[in-house]
Amino acid sequence: MKKAGVLGCGLMGSGIAEVCAKAGYETVVREVEEAFLKKGMARLEGSLSRAVEKGKLAAAEKEAIAGRLHGTTALEDLRDCDIVVEAIVENLDAKKETYAALDRICKPETIFCSNTSSLTITEMSAATSRPDRFAGLHFFNPVPVMKLVEVVRTIATSAETEKTVLEFARSLGKEPIRAQDNSGFVVNRLLVPYLLDAVRALEEGVGSREDIDKGMELGCGHPMGPLKLLDFVGLDTTYYIAEIMFNEYREKRFAPPPLLKRMVLAGRLGKKSGRGFYEYGEGK
Ligand code: CAA
Ligand code: NAD
Repeated sequence: MKKAGVLGCGLMGSGIAEVCAKAGYETVVREVEEAFLKKGMARLEGSLSRAVEKGKLAAAEKEAIAGRLHGTTALEDLRDCDIVVEAIVENLDAKKETYAALDRICKPETIFCSNTSSLTITEMSAATSRPDRFAGLHFFNPVPVMKLVEVVRTIATSAETEKTVLEFARSLGKEPIRAQDNSGFVVNRLLVPYLLDAVRALEEGVGSREDIDKGMELGCGHPMGPLKLLDFVGLDTTYYIAEIMFNEYREKRFAPPPLLKRMVLAGRLGKKSGRGFYEYGEGK
């Protein structure tokens, strides 16, 4: 494995591209539009600059990482990648369409991985001619900080692909766990109902946003309360995840609360749009 491709340079894709380039892989990251690419690359650059300021990364090493990173809007530029990690919007049709196109471009041995939070890997892999070289590789936000990745093997994924993806995850400095191809895998199956319940608690007036968050931070030692975490993940992404998991399991605990939907419709997507359950200004 020498060259990694990343699809999407949003919250997750920019972090995934960063850890790939840091680990020594030539990394190509693809966005749909130049403006999105510029925004994502600026986020990545900011993360590397902060690491230099904190003395965690030498300036020369930052330059070397930047030299291994290439942003593009052309899917064809992922042609000779050994592995591609997809982190585009949480929408099955968009992902299937992208994988089908990528399948025609990449060499047959290239391994495809999806960072999906809630879609099933099997369904995406069926859009390609390589379900045996297709796996889930689910990172956590913020990617440069969170140690965990979930490695998901479908009934069609070969044992060799799973082994290679586990090794790839370790080479990025991550700690993998193995999970079955069930919507939400291990972590989101447990986390998503909790986050949605926090929105319902707010809707029902159980407590203020600050008190709900403080309760879980000081009472349970969580680094962030659930409403802050929702803002951090993105309310649009959480809404898509909840819809997908609800359709999959038909269980009330996965149903998106009306307030979540209304906030997405109003453009309050969380930290990334400047407003969610909280307001975000420069540096906040
Ligand atoms: N990129 C890179 N580094 C970052 C970062 C980012 N976006 N945000 C924070 N950091 C680094 C900081 O530089 C700092 O590093 P040092 O300790 O080496 O100085 C470290 O992380 C801690 O940051 P801060 O001191 O600024 O803030 P903090 O102590 O509050 O930690 C946090 C920030 C790591 C985000 C912490 O609040 C946390 O762990 N929150 C919970 C995150 C979480 O639960 N993520 C999972 C979301 S669910 C998911 O991802 C799955 C899905 O499918 C939706
Ligand atoms: P995001 O909205 O920040 O970024 C998605 C990016 O994908 C956008 O910039 C969009 O322009 C781009 N995009 C859309 N179609 C594309 C295509 N065909 N090719 C290339 N780029 C394309 O979303 P995100 O939070 O980074 O989530 C991305 C994926 O990661 C989703 O599947 C999500 O479920 C998953 N995920 C999100 C989190 C999180 O905390 N936000 C955590 C783990 C996994």
